[in-house]
Amino acid sequence: MKVTTTVAVFAAGALAAPNRRAAAAACSSAVKLDASTNVWKNYKLHANTFYRSEVEKAVEAISDSSLKAQAAKVADVGSFLWIDTIENIAKVEPAIADTPCEDILGLVIYDLPGRDCAAKASNGELAYNEISRYKSEYIDPIVAILKKNPNTAFALLIEPDSLPNLVTNADLSTCQESKSAYEEGVAYALKNLNLPNVVMYIDAGHGGWLGWDANLDPGAEELAKVYKNAGSPKQVRGFATNIAGWNAWDLSPGEFSKASDAKYNSCQNEKTYVQKFGAALKSAGHPSYAIMDTGRNAVTGLRKEWGDWCNVDGAGFGKRPTADTGDSNTDAFVWGKPGGESDGTSDSGATRYDSFCGKDDAYKPAPEAGTWNQDYFEMLLKNANPQF
Ligand code: BGC
Repeated sequence: MKVTTTVAVFAAGALAAPNRRAAAAACSSAVKLDASTNVWKNYKLHANTFYRSEVEKAVEAISDSSLKAQAAKVADVGSFLWIDTIENIAKVEPAIADTPCEDILGLVIYDLPGRDCAAKASNGELAYNEISRYKSEYIDPIVAILKKNPNTAFALLIEPDSLPNLVTNADLSTCQESKSAYEEGVAYALKNLNLPNVVMYIDAGHGGWLGWDANLDPGAEELAKVYKNAGSPKQVRGFATNIAGWNAWDLSPGEFSKASDAKYNSCQNEKTYVQKFGAALKSAGHPSYAIMDTGRNAVTGLRKEWGDWCNVDGAGFGKRPTADTGDSNTDAFVWGKPGGESDGTSDSGATRYDSFCGKDDAYKPAPEAGTWNQDYFEMLLKNANPQF
């Protein structure tokens, strides 16, 4: 019920938006992305209509005129569109229709069987043993749409948290159950989405996750194993870091460098993580360029523990998407998580309630993962750096 309502609202937003040059179809030739280069130098992350319509509704709800004017500007920021259910595949074609030729449409592929095996807030619609549905009802239809639109450029972010969970949460029965479906599902996605108009980044958690000395090589080997099982698809460019995360880019000393266990982690900021994890990936035979989510990382010093991930209180919008990262290993800063959408509900009675969303450093009240939290959005805006 909730999902249906969301789609209806989004669809209306898509229709109301100007159809820029009947975008994709109007682009005159087939897109050929060279994944041995940084494609973000030539394309801008698209500010999709779905996030735009969420932000526009948020603007209406703000009475303070200067905050309202700032909020309106968020609608123009490029961000990834999460295809988090089979039903939400319906968002892809309207998003393509709105994408001008000079933009790249960012999509998050996020519907693995047994999704979010180490947490509860984003448990998905497919059970761990539904790999055949993942292939035929989720990946295959997306592949068909991307093939039908060869003139549009796509950046795909593949299955946040999935392979990292297999590396560090192998002791949980839920992650053990999901292991074969994650590996088979990600390989299937990489192999079949390997199209000339697509560039792919596989999620690699963040520096406070696979950046621990003991996790760097096992993490890189896990990604490389799946990539090779997929036939080493040439449109894979590397990995995504800090997706929906809170880490700073190059803060030094790093936010958690005073913690007692800091000596076991040589990746105290994301820039170092990109360098070290990228090097480990390279030795494991996996492409090693990164994109990093800077959507909500403007404020540091908020988390009690590095692993705290849910609706961090006091956060602010971070750097806008750009290919000017100043680092040759990092293709782009992107907005991965649409800021304002919740990470998980704070309602302890809900089925998907995760205790991380009830922690002292988590903003409350918060609605179900993926749904809009107006107060949180306004907080991100007030704390933005750079400001809007
Ligand atoms: C949720 C998804 C949502 C995404 C982006 C995830 O935490 O599980 O449903 O699309 O965040 O907000």
